[in-house]
Amino acid sequence: MKKIAIFASGSGSNAENIARHFTGYENLNIECIYSNKADAYVLERARKLNILTHVFSREEFYNSDSVLNRLKASNVDLIVLAGFLWLIPQNLIENFTIINIHPALLPKYGGKGMYGARVHQAVVENREKESGITVHFVNEKYDEGQIIFQARCPVAENDTPDDVARKVHELEYQYFPKVIDELLFGKH
Ligand code: GAR
Repeated sequence: MKKIAIFASGSGSNAENIARHFTGYENLNIECIYSNKADAYVLERARKLNILTHVFSREEFYNSDSVLNRLKASNVDLIVLAGFLWLIPQNLIENFTIINIHPALLPKYGGKGMYGARVHQAVVENREKESGITVHFVNEKYDEGQIIFQARCPVAENDTPDDVARKVHELEYQYFPKVIDELLFGKH
């Protein structure tokens, strides 16, 4: 039995999509969805999907081992960041394999403050011809860990940031669960 924990700060459409992908897998359990925001919509989604949730404060996350201890107690094999916006502290990096999805083709458009709509805004302002998604291992720096997977989409001249966001979300829904699946179980 493999166990994953998902961390999310916002809407959680990726978290839900991952949960739906693994519905019916007897060898995979989503232990808990963790969030730093008590009013994040992802918590509502988790309740509907019958997944345990845990909300933590900045103090707990950075100045205690409470999140670490909880993850250890539930024997989590993999932590998945799906729209989680805080930097991951060293105690978690040392103890777990952690992956993140970023809504652009890293190393472009990564780093502190580069998340969600801001990324797509920058891509459009720079008249990029393509964007996409990057799944990567998480280290102590924002968006700099080893890249596992990328997928691309075209950006048309008149695309708005919302248009790019839509294309990128489609790629996320299509590929992120498969990348997690392959990491845990290999190709099948
Ligand atoms: C996703 O597009 C994800 O790639 C991005 O936040 C969005 C969350 O959407 N993550 C980052 O920007 C991390 N730097 P969701 O809450 O609907 O899954």
